Amino acid sequence: MAQRGIFITFEGIEGSGKTTQSQRLATVLGPDALLTREPGGTHISEQIRDIFLTSDGITPMTELLLIAAARTQHVNELIRPALHAKRTVICDRFIDATVAYQGYRGDIDLAFIHQLNHTATDGLTPDITFILDLSPEIGLSRQQQGGVPRDRLDRESLESHRKVREGYLSVAKANPHRIKLIDATQSPDTVHAAILAEYQDYVW
Ligand code: TMP
Repeated sequence: MAQRGIFITFEGIEGSGKTTQSQRLATVLGPDALLTREPGGTHISEQIRDIFLTSDGITPMTELLLIAAARTQHVNELIRPALHAKRTVICDRFIDATVAYQGYRGDIDLAFIHQLNHTATDGLTPDITFILDLSPEIGLSRQQQGGVPRDRLDRESLESHRKVREGYLSVAKANPHRIKLIDATQSPDTVHAAILAEYQDYVW
């Protein structure tokens, strides 16, 4: 008998479709699955999200510390209790986003980020992570077509989005068992089917 529920995370650059795909998986798994996001997920962490997304002039280190603060609250208040109650938890972004955004894009020392991630989560690591991969050119053009409101990070240069993608690809390479790299240029239905197949593989 499993000690706790399964912890699944979704990652990807802007416009990769991870939010849609995490919602689709949650719908398939039903009401027992908890869908949440980072930064955010609890009242305190959502307030930190607002500061994080709307503060122009914020430094990469301030970003990192805000993310860590939001994460520790989220893990302790919501994620761990749900896993303990044997619920499946699906989180839209988690520790790998910090490596990609604050590490590769923000140029903060990766060893420090890993240490802080470990401290903020008390060692909680996802069981499965889906990285929805596509080029930043396609991701950004998709987002513009979708008319999604653009936040501070969406407005950054193509170069910055390239660094984030590079970060995700290197994290995927370093964690081949946990991380499933999914080609996000495929149709949403094909991406969903690939995710479901990986999930079923893990569960059975
Ligand atoms: P979202 O657009 O997926 O809701 O994510 C909000 C933004 O937060 C996104 O631009 C990526 C950023 N982010 C980081 O920079 N570091 C992190 O650790 C996380 C979780 C998100």
